[in-house]
Amino acid sequence: MDTDSVGTIDLWAADFVVRPILRETLSCFDEGDTLFVGQGLDDVRVAYVSSQASAGPSDCTCIRCQIYADAGEMWIANLRVAAPFRLQGLGRQLVTASERIAREMGIQIIRVFPFLVSKPFWRKMGYEPDPRAARVLLKDLSWQYVTHNGVHQMENTA
Ligand SMILES: CC(C)(COP(=O)(O)OP(=O)(O)OC[C@H]1O[C@@H](n2cnc3c(N)ncnc32)[C@H](O)[C@@H]1OP(=O)(O)O)[C@@H](O)C(=O)NCCC(=O)NCCS
Repeated sequence: MDTDSVGTIDLWAADFVVRPILRETLSCFDEGDTLFVGQGLDDVRVAYVSSQASAGPSDCTCIRCQIYADAGEMWIANLRVAAPFRLQGLGRQLVTASERIAREMGIQIIRVFPFLVSKPFWRKMGYEPDPRAARVLLKDLSWQYVTHNGVHQMENTA
């Protein structure tokens, strides 16, 4: 197997894509933050830990995603905002950044297996129950809210 690519994702391109998106999307982004983009068995893994918005090693603001290019889907495997930084929009920014990374990589579906207490947060982010799997939530990125003449509606942009 080509060690530089998984499916259609080139790891160098992934690193090239991910950092600018995080820089643009996260108000807490710092160039010295921990960022990992690497190859799993059949996926590309992206992990990010904020230095400015963390409150110690056991209370980090971080996100970890697994991208399965062949299946056209991303899993948000872990999302956490450090307790002192919650309800300031960072969770939304991290989800938005993940969705932008997914779009850039040609991924259409994002799935998450949420903690029960965080389900309302995910529903606010537009994630719906996955008809295929109990407790899993998903977002189909080809559908998005658009406004025509002041009317909000869902539109398939695929
Ligand atoms: C869930 C979590 C990531 C949210 O992060 P956050 O930075 O506090 O969220 P934001 O400030 O971006 O909130 C975005 C919106 O979701 C709402 N929201 C956030 N947490 C919520 C919760 N637990 N229940 C209901 N709504 C919530 C906010 O009020 C906000 O709504 P608004 O846009 O209408 O104002 C954070 O609380 C956390 O890390 N929790 C512990 C770990 C966890 O549950 N992770 C998810 C596992 S999959």
